[in-house]
Amino acid sequence: MDTQPVSVLVIDGDAASRNYLTVMLRKSGYTVLSASLGREGLISAWKDHPDLIILDPVLPDVPGLELVNRLRQDRRTSKVPCVALSSRQDSGDINALLSAGCNEYMAKSSQALPLLLELIPRLMRGESTVPKKQGVLVAFLSAKGGTGTSSLCANIAMCLGSEKIETRVAVMDLVLPIGSIANIVGYDDPLNLVTVAMQSPAETSAAFFKDNLPRVPNWYFHLLAGSPDPDLANLLTVDRLDGILNGITESYDYILVDIGRTLSRISLPIIQKADVVVLVVGTDLSTGILTKKVWEYLKNQGIDPRRLYALQNRAIGLEGLSKTEIELMTGLQIRLTMPHISGNFTIANNRHEPVIAKFSNDSSALTLKQAAIQIAELGERLRSK
Ligand SMILES: Nc1ncnc2c1ncn2[C@@H]1O[C@H](COP(=O)(O)OP(=O)(O)OP(=O)(O)O)[C@@H](O)[C@H]1O
Ligand SMILES: [Mg+2]
Repeated sequence: MDTQPVSVLVIDGDAASRNYLTVMLRKSGYTVLSASLGREGLISAWKDHPDLIILDPVLPDVPGLELVNRLRQDRRTSKVPCVALSSRQDSGDINALLSAGCNEYMAKSSQALPLLLELIPRLMRGESTVPKKQGVLVAFLSAKGGTGTSSLCANIAMCLGSEKIETRVAVMDLVLPIGSIANIVGYDDPLNLVTVAMQSPAETSAAFFKDNLPRVPNWYFHLLAGSPDPDLANLLTVDRLDGILNGITESYDYILVDIGRTLSRISLPIIQKADVVVLVVGTDLSTGILTKKVWEYLKNQGIDPRRLYALQNRAIGLEGLSKTEIELMTGLQIRLTMPHISGNFTIANNRHEPVIAKFSNDSSALTLKQAAIQIAELGERLRSK
């Protein structure tokens, strides 16, 4: 067993708190190094290899954020746990430091020492102390093309985002080789799934997605658009998808992923990870048969039936199977039926406008809002279990 005492480096410009921490940590059996300046702290961190660094982000020479960035960028200290201990409680500062890689942010108070003494052994065991925030992940898919999956994904995301202004919603278009959400909302900037996947994991942290995913005007959500063409789709680095998805789920409250009708080794892990799986069902016989097959397959892949939200969409017109007929055929419980809105959906899509903005009094708008509420409730409920 390793009996070496754990070494802690305290970087704090305030002599009183630096000395107090040094004395108290030594009393608790730690080896303590200390520095009163950021530069001095960096040198000690790189030369003395402490097991843990406690720093006051308000330093006389180097801003705390820069210090954390430099610690994280250097191989010698990239993984050393860092705790910010500060008398300032500015949420912007806190978020910036945590995003830069600080493991924990604590306020200087009478409670700080007992909290630190409890925290240090946990950090030494490699436990993450602040459980990473995870938004509710919702996968949208269908067994057959043209069922309205993308239109519903975009419009339900819009309902979620516009309901409460503080709710952060992201939409990720995973339909390959050409995504269609960008088209529906009128987005054509170069940032998309493929270009983001070309960046290194270090460049695409949760903070990157929080700050850089474009917010689509009038749609109340941020978009990671899909591949704009098959040539670009061929360049997609598939093994980056998991990291991208994690970054987005850490920085948004709801993440709606358009998977379309492709069940593949790319989409299956995302469906398995999703809190809610929205299966969009049409009204024709073949959709019924295909949906039954897809659902059997998903169940065999371990998808919990409680996570399923089957949504019937009358995309093609008034004709076709009723809700009960589809339920009998597929064995699924249809939670909601989206009425056919003749050309209205297509008109709204062509104008890049959300349906509820364009036809706010239509029953379709109410259905979309209701679907958004039910999906959010289901996600939150399953999340709390
Ligand atoms: N409830 C509806 N009423 C009328 N038209 C609809 C309805 N739902 C979808 N549509 C129309 O159906 C067409 C297909 O919709 P959408 O592109 O969303 O389907 P999809 O399932 O994503 O298709 P794909 O297989 O191409 O990905 C669009 O023109 C859309 O406007
Ligand atoms: Mg689509």
